[in-house]
Amino acid sequence: MSCFSFIFKRKKSSVDESFLNAEGIQNVTLYSYKELKLATEDFSSLNRIGEGGFGSVYKGRLRDGKSVAVKVLSSESRQGVREFLSELRTISNITHDNLVELYGCCVEGNSRILVYNYLPNNSLAQTLLGNGCSDLQFSWRTRTKICIGIARGLAFLHEVVKPHVVHRDIKASNVLLDEHLNPKISDFGLAKLFPPNATHVSTRVAGTIGYLAPEYAMGGQLTRKADIYSFGILLMEIVSGRCNTNKRLPVEDQFLLERIWTLHERNELVLIVDPDLNGDFDAEEACRYLKVGLLCTQDAPKCRPSMSTVVKMLTGEQKVDMECMAKPGLIADFMDLKIRTQKKVEDAALAYTSSSGLSAHDNSPLSSENTTYASFTFTAISDRGD
Ligand SMILES: Nc1ncnc2c1ncn2[C@@H]1O[C@H](COP(=O)(O)OP(=O)(O)OP(=O)(O)O)[C@@H](O)[C@H]1O
Ligand SMILES: [Mg+2]
Repeated sequence: MSCFSFIFKRKKSSVDESFLNAEGIQNVTLYSYKELKLATEDFSSLNRIGEGGFGSVYKGRLRDGKSVAVKVLSSESRQGVREFLSELRTISNITHDNLVELYGCCVEGNSRILVYNYLPNNSLAQTLLGNGCSDLQFSWRTRTKICIGIARGLAFLHEVVKPHVVHRDIKASNVLLDEHLNPKISDFGLAKLFPPNATHVSTRVAGTIGYLAPEYAMGGQLTRKADIYSFGILLMEIVSGRCNTNKRLPVEDQFLLERIWTLHERNELVLIVDPDLNGDFDAEEACRYLKVGLLCTQDAPKCRPSMSTVVKMLTGEQKVDMECMAKPGLIADFMDLKIRTQKKVEDAALAYTSSSGLSAHDNSPLSSENTTYASFTFTAISDRGD
């Protein structure tokens, strides 16, 4: 009998600190369910700050006064204690200024709860892209700081952490903001806490379709280059202040990436910069950022720059090389996929409507029609080395 099963039996599916240490999980506090229940006032709906595909998120205050975000993973994530902790190990020791800090977890009975540093200024999806729901102002300087910060956080996950971490879900709702509007990437490594065939994964990907690299959406190839594609889309959203897809706009304007490519060809990129800036921005820099976005979203993954190169291009340390720039992997490709997979879409739509968990704060005006075919492709994901 392994050491694990001995402890497992004795503790009836809860774990203790020495077990965490034995599993190689450091810097993570083990919270009791009771403690988190108290911190969130019995997981009161008043303290619920969001709901994503992984489950509900509550604001809480620990006994020592620390504010925390308590993410209660949904029932589909009830994988075994060992599997859960094994995946937790990959994220528990990762710390960086631009990554949300994981304080600890709770593993008791069927509960799987993650406890994070609480970020007071919400996510980019709810603030910058939140259709006037927030009072926060995003000056051009603040936007450059946010873009560079996200790029640095992602470069760290991709190139410094060993083995490297592919985020899988870079998007505006996964960029949280601290009191000084510094960006912190959330949910890195989280997809791996779920069994690959869990149904909630479909709903999680549902809000994300506009960020999916073509090779990921169509072939299930998940590499760092897929994250870089998503980052490129996010970069364009930050510069333009617009969601990547908006079905309420005229047809030629609905897909941000398509629009930006057209403007690039006409040498009119500056026209897409957020009008809320009232012209108060560095036009040369803003166009450079958009060009970096176009490079990141190239159809061929090998043509996308690495994240460390992206950081240098954004900070101006490296020239944005436009020589081999081709048309990016466009939404039109998804439309082709949609036609080819019509039947599967209809089947998935059924599953979609019977499931819950789509973020209550998702501002993306995507229809459920768009969202369902992403779910079927997600099941085919494989991690690859590059
Ligand atoms: N550490 C945190 N501090 C403050 N608010 C947070 C924190 N983590 C999450 N939230 C809030 O909870 C909301 C839901 O987060 P969650 O990650 O569950 O869903 P999501 O990001 O919208 O979608 P997905 O499940 O695809 O990641 C976020 O949009 C954010 O407003
Ligand atoms: Mg999230």
